Amino acid sequence: MCRVARGQFHLLDLATVIKEVDDHIVEGLLHCSDRNCQREYPIIDGVPLIIRDIRSYLSDNLFQVCQRTDLSETIESVLGDCGGHGSVFDAIRQHVSSYAWDHYGDLDPDEPPGDPRPGSMLRVLRRGIALSGLESDRPDSMLDVGCSVGRSTFTLAETLDRPVLGIDLNLPMLRVAARALREGVVRYPRRRVGIVYDRREFPVSFRCADRVDFWACDATALPFAEESIGAALSLNVLDCVHSPMEFLSSLGAVLQPNGRAVIASPYDWSSSATPIEGWIGGHSQRGPDRGASESILRQILTPGHPQAIQSLRLIAENNCPWHVRMHDRSVVSYDSHLVVAQKVG
Ligand SMILES: C[S@@+](CC[C@H](N)C(=O)[O-])C[C@H]1O[C@@H](n2cnc3c(N)ncnc32)[C@H](O)[C@@H]1O
Repeated sequence: MCRVARGQFHLLDLATVIKEVDDHIVEGLLHCSDRNCQREYPIIDGVPLIIRDIRSYLSDNLFQVCQRTDLSETIESVLGDCGGHGSVFDAIRQHVSSYAWDHYGDLDPDEPPGDPRPGSMLRVLRRGIALSGLESDRPDSMLDVGCSVGRSTFTLAETLDRPVLGIDLNLPMLRVAARALREGVVRYPRRRVGIVYDRREFPVSFRCADRVDFWACDATALPFAEESIGAALSLNVLDCVHSPMEFLSSLGAVLQPNGRAVIASPYDWSSSATPIEGWIGGHSQRGPDRGASESILRQILTPGHPQAIQSLRLIAENNCPWHVRMHDRSVVSYDSHLVVAQKVG
């Protein structure tokens, strides 16, 4: 839905199909159905961009949106050498490398043996599903918030046999997900060392792929009708959004009564992602909670507490190891805090 006017929601119409491959709209336009708005939301590389301030998003991320995806490994490596370490091009490759490796490396026939193995996100997902009881509940629809390259979305749809929509704001990562969906191929640059990346390309196939889609949406302003989503998963995203409180209240608003959200976070706060005022803990160590993110999140998820968002109640929690591979000789290890919250009925 279009939610340009705060508090108002209008359905989107599919206005133009520019390019279609099989059943997938690769390029097109969605329009707000409100005559006074008529905002346009583009579909690019198979990903609808349904973001409230679409103009700012596109102007801030023009490089990512216009980035070529058809270049050979050799030319990409020349661009990487010339752009150098820390360039936007390099940052995109590093991100895609880390997440595509963890999400899909287990399916890559050329992935070398050794420790750690890919698949740490899947371990968090499985522990979260077990903790939440979603397998017996089977919600009618699910969101995978901050899905990045999308393996969690496919796995959720397979495990629960339900439609799952993966959303993220990072178009280069969503492109990997959308290509896996549309072409059954994962292609990503796997970082070896420095600015040296090896291209990986291998087939993937997922049961229930017809129940999956990937959209670019902001987790802090979800473009869905209130109480329309059965359940949500959000792994390692809470400490990456610009406003964690807006993210939690947006989740609380779209979940159906009693709907569950599985939320994991290693609380790796950084002011480049979230202004310090928005962090849940991680500061104010002289306060009553001594800066502990876990206890402040528990209060936020306790309806009635003065700091609570009121619509979500914590019903279970646990921890789970998770890692992010940086290059051949560097892996960052985390202990992700898993919570299951339920929409107050
Ligand atoms: C640390 S990664 C975790 C990815 C994946 N869930 C996993 O566990 O492997 C955080 C993800 O959140 C996404 N993200 C950050 N802010 C977002 C926002 N406001 N809306 C949607 N996604 C966001 C990032 O683009 C990134 O893909």
